[in-house]
This record gives sequence, C-alpha cells and structure tokens, in this order.
Amino acid sequence: MLNKEQIGQFQTEGFLVLENVFSPPDIESVRRAALSIVNDFDATRHRSVFTTKDRDEGRDEYFLQSAESVHCFLEEGALDENGGLNRPKALAINKIGHAMHDLVPEFTAFCRLPVIGHVLRDIGYHKPVLWQTMYIFKQPGIGGEVRWHQDASYLHSANPGVTGIWVAIENATRENGCLWMQPGQHHSPLREIYEMDWSQRTGELITLDDTPWSTEDAIPVEVAAGSAVLFHDHMPHYSSQNPSSRSRHAFTMHVAESGAAWSPKNWLQRPTLGAFEL
Ligand code: FE2
Repeated sequence: MLNKEQIGQFQTEGFLVLENVFSPPDIESVRRAALSIVNDFDATRHRSVFTTKDRDEGRDEYFLQSAESVHCFLEEGALDENGGLNRPKALAINKIGHAMHDLVPEFTAFCRLPVIGHVLRDIGYHKPVLWQTMYIFKQPGIGGEVRWHQDASYLHSANPGVTGIWVAIENATRENGCLWMQPGQHHSPLREIYEMDWSQRTGELITLDDTPWSTEDAIPVEVAAGSAVLFHDHMPHYSSQNPSSRSRHAFTMHVAESGAAWSPKNWLQRPTLGAFEL
C-alpha cells in the first residue's frame, strides 16, 4: 500500500497525508452513523462539555466510562447561561467517543477496511490494536480550538507507541479548522502527561517540559473528504476554532502494537471490551 518514499516521509516528518483512500460510500456510512448516535443522544441527561482550555480538569465519570462505550460531549459554546442548549442538538456536539469501533456496526466495518491494517503494517506494526475511536464535529461557528499537544500525553504505550489516523469526513481547510502539524518535531520530548489516580478516579495533566511550542514552522494540513492523515504520537498538532459556516467532521483512530505495554495510568482502559485487532 505505502511506497518507500511514503514510509520514509512518515519517519522523517512524523506524519503522512494519504489522499482519497476512503470511498464516498465508506465516508457517508460513518457520517450517517455518527448523526444517528447524536439523534439518539439525550442532551438533557448528559451535559458533559469537551474543551482543551481547562488542562483537562473537566474529565468526569461520564468521560472515563466512554472508554468502553459511546458517549456524546458538547461544545462549550453550545450552552446558554442556564446550562441549556442554545442551538439544535446536531450542531451542539463536540465529539463522540471512544468505543464506536466495538459497539456500532458501521464504525466496526469502517475500521476493518483492509487499507487501514495494510498501512499500519507498512509503518512497522505487526499486530495493530485499535484502542480508541472518536468522531469530531468541529461545528460551524462554535467548534472549539484544540490547543497544541502530543497524543502520547494521553495515550501512552511502549515502542512503537501509538499512531493516530485522522480521516477527513468533510473537507478540512484553514477556514473550518484543519489540523496543523510541525514537520519533523515528532522527536520532541513529551511536554505533558495526563495521569490517572485510580484510587480517586481523577486525572491530572502534569507538565514535563515547559518549553513553549515554537510554531513558526507549523503547517496547515488541508485535506479533502476521504483523505487520511497518519501521525506519530509525539507529533505536536493543533486545530483552530471554526469560525466558518461549514462543519469539519473527522473520524480518528488510535492504535498501538498488541502486547506492547499500555500505561496503567492512561485514562483509557478497556478491561471488559478486550483487544480490537486490525
Ligand atoms: Fe490529538
């Protein structure tokens, strides 16, 4: 699937864009399944907001339990002063996570598309295991910024670590909040780590290195629907707010090698679902 040049580019730059790897029907199937989950979501029962502005202090029990279920999280800008929604539910969701691959047939089918396993084996995985899936809406007008971070701060595994696969369900541009990457900076040391204290069921984002990110060399990764971005778990990445009138839906998968140590302090644990091998 990947040629030598692409594998080399992934190793050198820490990320790789794969254009038009998923067909319109495959993309549409995931998009419809996500909208159906939102349709069934009772926003009066769960008011859990997802934001990266608070150093992850808002991670509650509803968030922790999403490791093995399918939960919807709201955009901060979708709540009025009384905590009610200020817009239709379908335009208020920040993301869905984190076990759709196990629990929603359309997502299971998408994750099992052979191209995904092939690409992961091409970059060195022997038996890739899918730990987490997210469907991110980046809603028009209110889709919040995701600050610069490295995914290994949240999902820590032993060599070869975690790889993220970010799939554009809709066109991603600078205007609607595409990903930004820092080519070659995946060799940067880990700046932060989010660790759970399971006795209290609380987590804390710990600063390991407070050097500010130097973002002059950051580049926007504008991709069309059906394209994917593969990236290393130490790659600093970011996405801006979405002030535009167009949403920017994306589906993400995070994989690690089967049998590689998974940190017991990671917030995401799957004691009952078991391994989802690709
Ligand atoms: Fe990330």
